[in-house]
Amino acid sequence: MQVTLTNGTKLPIEMHKVRIVQRCTLQPVAHRLAAITAAGYNTFLLRTRDVFIDMLTDSGTNAMSDNQLAAMMVADDAYAGGDSYYRLADACRDVMGFEFCIPVHQGRAAEHLLAKILVKPGDRVVMNYHFTTTKAHFELQGGTVHEIYCEGALETASTNPFKGNIDLNKFQALIDKFGPKKISFVRMEATTNLIGGQPFSMANLRAVSAMARKHGIPVMIDTSLISENAYFIKRREAGYADMGIKEIILEMMGHADMMYMSGRKSTAVRGGMIATNSKVLFEQVKAWLPVYEGFLTYGGMSSKEVEAMAVGMREMCDIEVASSGADLIQYFVDQMVAAGLPAVTPAGGLAGHVDAIKFLPHIPQSAYPAGCLAAAIYLVSGARPMERGTVSMDRDKQGRDVFADLELARLAVPRRVYSMAHIDYVVDRLKWLHAHRDLIGGLRFVEEPPVLRFFFGRLEPLNDWGTKLAKAFEADFGPEQ
Ligand SMILES: Cc1ncc(COP(=O)(O)O)c(C=O)c1O
Repeated sequence: MQVTLTNGTKLPIEMHKVRIVQRCTLQPVAHRLAAITAAGYNTFLLRTRDVFIDMLTDSGTNAMSDNQLAAMMVADDAYAGGDSYYRLADACRDVMGFEFCIPVHQGRAAEHLLAKILVKPGDRVVMNYHFTTTKAHFELQGGTVHEIYCEGALETASTNPFKGNIDLNKFQALIDKFGPKKISFVRMEATTNLIGGQPFSMANLRAVSAMARKHGIPVMIDTSLISENAYFIKRREAGYADMGIKEIILEMMGHADMMYMSGRKSTAVRGGMIATNSKVLFEQVKAWLPVYEGFLTYGGMSSKEVEAMAVGMREMCDIEVASSGADLIQYFVDQMVAAGLPAVTPAGGLAGHVDAIKFLPHIPQSAYPAGCLAAAIYLVSGARPMERGTVSMDRDKQGRDVFADLELARLAVPRRVYSMAHIDYVVDRLKWLHAHRDLIGGLRFVEEPPVLRFFFGRLEPLNDWGTKLAKAFEADFGPEQ
């Protein structure tokens, strides 16, 4: 919740109290230099014991509620027919308006099954923007991904409240060019992870859905951050200010034929789901579920997580839950902008993002500026960002780098985990880093997996810039920090 203080400033005040805590450790800069070197300058390969503030992702890292933890204790551990599944299916029907619910172990498992069933070689898969695992699954089935984002979606400094919108003219052009039968579905990602967690508007979803339905093209929503997208619609779109999050979500789902989610985000568990009102699609997915995931009533999830997901799905409709990450991210982005840092604006749904091309104009995309910035942020702060740029793109068939549309260092804000003091500290260290940005150099791969290389790839600095940066930091702050 944002409360207004006497001096007029907005405070993202927590509408929960903390009753279980986990110790954090701030290792000194020399230790962090050794850790990031051992990790091949890839923040995925750091151990959490070396991380102070873990901003790698909001996936599976949000704080669960007391009610979710309590629900885990009454989970029904049956292999088949467990009551936990039926409670999840009830929540899915109430909150999403979908009759058929299929749990899967996480979001990419849903992408795998949906790709297997809906994407044929030569198909076109149309979306507002891709996500790494989404693209991998649809392409592995022989599909081609078309991103038809709206004008200005890739401008990092922007006031467009809905950069996740689809460009309807581009959609129509694809239908005209390939014919509707070649388009497997149109996918709307709520919120577009790789371009700054940006939402789409209800008006855009309504128009996309009308165009798709006119041509018999199914509409799919990736609902991983659905409560955040609904919250942005409430705050930013005319006509929705007085509606509840649940009503907004139900209206959104009314424009879709199916949804899938990583339950690790809005529902704050470790799991995923596919849901639809189509009995045909349900039966098709169900048939493959035991091969890849497990029986229908647990789908590869622990039944404790199934039970907690049922609670999380209802809780995400509480405005204080839906806004808990978004309001702190807004504060984070406001602080970065006030400090003159090139943050992605408007604030999005999962993280504060820094534009690495603007931050490090001296580093070309071939030397991975977002990877350099992510490693440098860790080095000077102990906060762990994620690279969302060219390192996160796999090479083309000729073995060439595919330069990403944006080079972002993403600092995720897991819900209800970190405080304003943590955010203020990170912004301060970003400010220091910006003032010393000339010390940061490029990276090159030394070990590179063939697919989704960002997870396990190892890089090395092109010169000894890490050591120089650590020395400059130590000169200003001493060896303890
Ligand atoms: C928008 C979106 N879709 C799908 C996924 C994949 O989900 P998972 O990590 O649960 O496999 C993610 C993960 O971050 C995501 O952000």
